[in-house]
Amino acid sequence: MAMLDLRELPDFTANPYPYYAKLRAEGPVHTVRTEQMERIWLIVGYEEARAALADQRFGKDWRATGRWADEVNPISSNMLELDAPHHTRLRRLVAREFTPRRIEALRPRVTEITTELLDAMVPAGSADLVDALAFPLPMTVICELLGVPDIDRDAFRELSSAIVTPTPAQRESADPVRAMSDYLVQLIEEKRSSPGDDLMSALIRTRDEGGDGLSGEELVGMAFVLLVAGHETTVNLISNGVRALLDHPDQLALLRADPGLLEGAVEEMLRYDGPVETATFRFTREEITVGSTVIPYDEPVLVALASGGRDPEKFTDPDTFDIRRAPQGHLAFGHGAHYCLGAPLARMEARIAIGALLERCPELARDPVGGEPEWLPGLLMRGVRRLPVRW
Ligand code: HEM
Repeated sequence: MAMLDLRELPDFTANPYPYYAKLRAEGPVHTVRTEQMERIWLIVGYEEARAALADQRFGKDWRATGRWADEVNPISSNMLELDAPHHTRLRRLVAREFTPRRIEALRPRVTEITTELLDAMVPAGSADLVDALAFPLPMTVICELLGVPDIDRDAFRELSSAIVTPTPAQRESADPVRAMSDYLVQLIEEKRSSPGDDLMSALIRTRDEGGDGLSGEELVGMAFVLLVAGHETTVNLISNGVRALLDHPDQLALLRADPGLLEGAVEEMLRYDGPVETATFRFTREEITVGSTVIPYDEPVLVALASGGRDPEKFTDPDTFDIRRAPQGHLAFGHGAHYCLGAPLARMEARIAIGALLERCPELARDPVGGEPEWLPGLLMRGVRRLPVRW
């Protein structure tokens, strides 16, 4: 079993797929060293990844670990860092807002926001697609849904990316988690004084009326996970998806010729180069055997969703981007109890955004003045900070 030091592989971030292929060929689980931790167990095989995501012996709660309990912070009381029964309770509080039917009701508004963004973008003839469309669309939608439309987007975006995709310098400097928590506490206070008919107000009422006993920290954790998961990921689905199309002109031409392929194309974008490279940390609650490897108790584990999507045991010709493939069972939204709550919303946003973009920009191409892409650092997210395009 190989121990891979990811710090020694600068091109890993730009293109991790050949490394994942090599690792998979050697076995479904490996140890790696990253900037964040000395030793992480990385699950790279599709079947083993899917099984681990649904296996409660891999815990998510840092508090329940022997070695990592002190890592808990003011935004940790959220679904992604808790196990049943706490996780179940928090998820149940918001799950009904995110069912496919509730999300379908947002379609006219998502379409309207997309049209407004494209109206502003198209006359210029060129743009950074991240800044013009991929970021503002999901950000506007999740803020409206929660009822915080006046959020300071630039400040929030900076804090959020310092937490989710920190550069080495950001890891060393100020404490973005504390700043995020302070920001959210203030946001919740403002919302409390002017409540509306929205999700955040409803959650605050639940807390204030003692209904489900949502604690102050849980309220902050909920605001954090919804706002951050609601935009950090979808921005990369739109930008990675458009990149894949621009890099595969034959597939782009197919999609232009038959917009009916759009739904399947978005699924293939999720499989081929999804936004979430590895799922969030899990910890072994007991000794667990994966393949023929025994992972000891209390070890940090990452499930490489991106590697699962390229496993030839599951997907034929996995490195080929084929929008007609219908990639059943990809792991881009995770699997099991923590399966992405926002999947119906993310899918709808991406379909609307990419469909409208292709329609409004028939000559869409990469803008060569953009230079080399700047990849998001770290193992969690996959994407570029900017995507210069012209049409
Ligand atoms: C393309 C966009 C998205 C992708 C690829 C994505 C991916 C994921 C993945 C892989 C997980 C599971 C992580 C794990 O098990 O460690 C997850 C969980 C979650 N996602 Fe998403 N997500 C996306 C968009 C969204 C949106 C728009 C929302 C909006 C509300 C959202 C909310 C959540 C929440 C709340 C969880 C935690 C669920 C739980 O712990 O029960 N996501 N997402």
